[in-house]
Amino acid sequence: MRGRRTGRSNGLGDKVKKEFNMMIVKEKFENFYHFYPYPVAFIGVKYQEKINFMSAAWHSPLSMKPPLFAVMISKKRLTHSLITKAKEFSASFLPFENRKCSAFCGRTSGRDRDKVKDFSIELINPVKISSPLMAGSYAGLECKLYDIREYGDHDLIVGEVVVIHEDPNYFDKDGRLLVEKVKPILYLGMDFYVSTSSETLEKITL
Ligand SMILES: Cc1cc2nc3c(=O)[nH]c(=O)nc-3n(C[C@H](O)[C@H](O)[C@H](O)COP(=O)(O)O)c2cc1C
Repeated sequence: MRGRRTGRSNGLGDKVKKEFNMMIVKEKFENFYHFYPYPVAFIGVKYQEKINFMSAAWHSPLSMKPPLFAVMISKKRLTHSLITKAKEFSASFLPFENRKCSAFCGRTSGRDRDKVKDFSIELINPVKISSPLMAGSYAGLECKLYDIREYGDHDLIVGEVVVIHEDPNYFDKDGRLLVEKVKPILYLGMDFYVSTSSETLEKITL
């Protein structure tokens, strides 16, 4: 089905012409990649002697007070069952150089592989939980399980952030990521990765 032409204001007084007549309107779809890229979070969890990491693109901060961080995880993942038992998890954010680690942690299951051993993942000791973070991260979160809710085929797993790790080389005094110095791993879906270009960096003040 074809959409219709429309002219819209962007709220700043400029007219933005949008040509929708070339758009395809889908009411049945099998992927959700249209609004990617997403930064990859490596979700780590330790339960008894098992340490596992999985790649996650569907994550978000939910609240500042209390500090809540959420990730959508399918019940099929080993990570899901480990988090429900350990009642905690970590989230590590690594530079683009580690994109193969994202592919590995996102395309293999800890049910079949010891990811830490097979990919020689170096660990950072956590401070307030038992689940380690990944060495080489520019940032990491330690989370205690706060809530789990089912939404369709994924569960919203919410953690209360009890510790934040940040590499001072990669953040300015206000906490902005210095993309001039570190490039995040961004996932485009279907095994494609991309990163940021600091040439596009712009501060816009109104
Ligand atoms: C870049 C990337 C992002 C992913 N994001 C998610 C996600 O947000 N939620 C999810 O349930 N699975 C996601 N996956 C799939 C899991 O990472 C994958 O199924 C993984 O093998 C699960 O490992 P586990 O069984 O050891 O937990 C993603 C995969 C990739 C490659």
